[in-house]
Amino acid sequence: MNSFEFKNPTKIIFGEGEIKKIADNIPAGSHILLAYGGGSIKNNGIYDQVIAASKDFKVTEFSGIEPNPHFETLMKAVKIIRDEKIDFILAVGGGSVIDGCKFLSAATFYEGDEWDLVAKGLSRKQEKVLPFGTVLTLPATGSEMNSGAVVTKASTREKRTFGGPQYFPVFSICDPTVIKSLPKRQIANGVVDAFTHTLEQYLTYQHDALLQDRIAEGILQTLIEIGPKVMEDPSDYKAASNFMWSATMALNGILRLGVPTDWATHMIAHELTALHGIDHARTLAIIAPNLYRKLFDDKKEKLVQYGRRVWGLNGESEIEIAEKAIEMTVSFFQSLGIETKLSDYTADYKDTAQTVYERFSERKWSGLGERQKIGSELAKEIVEMSI
Ligand code: NZQ
Ligand code: ZN
Repeated sequence: MNSFEFKNPTKIIFGEGEIKKIADNIPAGSHILLAYGGGSIKNNGIYDQVIAASKDFKVTEFSGIEPNPHFETLMKAVKIIRDEKIDFILAVGGGSVIDGCKFLSAATFYEGDEWDLVAKGLSRKQEKVLPFGTVLTLPATGSEMNSGAVVTKASTREKRTFGGPQYFPVFSICDPTVIKSLPKRQIANGVVDAFTHTLEQYLTYQHDALLQDRIAEGILQTLIEIGPKVMEDPSDYKAASNFMWSATMALNGILRLGVPTDWATHMIAHELTALHGIDHARTLAIIAPNLYRKLFDDKKEKLVQYGRRVWGLNGESEIEIAEKAIEMTVSFFQSLGIETKLSDYTADYKDTAQTVYERFSERKWSGLGERQKIGSELAKEIVEMSI
């Protein structure tokens, strides 16, 4: 196992009815910015619970953080935070609202062009940040227990990641009953996003971290078991709670300890959202299988392990098991109603691969993936295979 350091300071408050604990976890006397998205929380009772739980605080609201949160929208919130002297942010939403609030946390005290925090990686150097907590409404990204985020600059159609150890939420309230109001499309997205986060940290090459592999396999098997159940009946608490915890565990830092990680699927897929507005998880379902096919020789041993342990494949040659493992993954995504080709989502794909090539070249991204092999050329070829 490779050497590692690990610190995850986020307090997780998990279970039905736990939203009432907000007040115990925010410093008394705080002026809170209550940040949320397009309003789903007003229709499912979450907003009312949050307001009731924060009645002893001064609260200013900021709504309208869109999916794939826009830098331009978030800058309006930064102004409010600075003008109103907000001292704590409460993010109530899915990955987009939580990621947006990580940006607010970084930008509040930054003097300069705030986009540089993202595009130039300056978020990592920002010392003074605004603390924030979250109420998770959509299990998917793991953003509730990690310190990374993704923000889109609408004016240039760029979707970029940023982060740093300063951006862990102080606390996250994870009440699995919130998934009852999720549209099926978002539930499917959540399952596939969590599944792919696990694969990004598992489907690489053989290493000595036996436990990390088995935790990853446990998450994958759990998602395969409960995915259809949460789609069918999101009020099934057993399925919902296992879904929510699997998604958190898939990207809270545990799986990556001491192991090689890939993440090239995500970096290529973000371009498909930036260029075509396709939901994050769906872009992963488009790219991941083709990335595995393209890098088949590098990933073969792990694909065989994945096929045997997660999908129960046996009796065939190793090559057949590895190939079948990719096909089982595609079938699983499709069984949740997720299409796996770019052309299933847009007819405007003619220039996509070339644009991805140019963007990767401009950013000098040449060493992505667990073997640092993926640059503009391979990214282009993978997108071409995905059409
Ligand atoms: O905006 P509202 O009205 O709340 O509606 C949202 C939104 O339209 C709705 N929704 C959320 N909870 C709901 C609900 N509707 C009914 N009932 C509920 N309980 O769902 C829609 C999608 O929400 P969004 O937050 O965009 O989805 P998700 O959680 O999948 O987040 C996606 C974003 O996270 C980034 C993605 O790139 C994308 O921008 N990611 C963040 C990561 C991280 N921070 O670690 C890692 C991921 O790989 C991912 O890149
Ligand atoms: Zn993801």
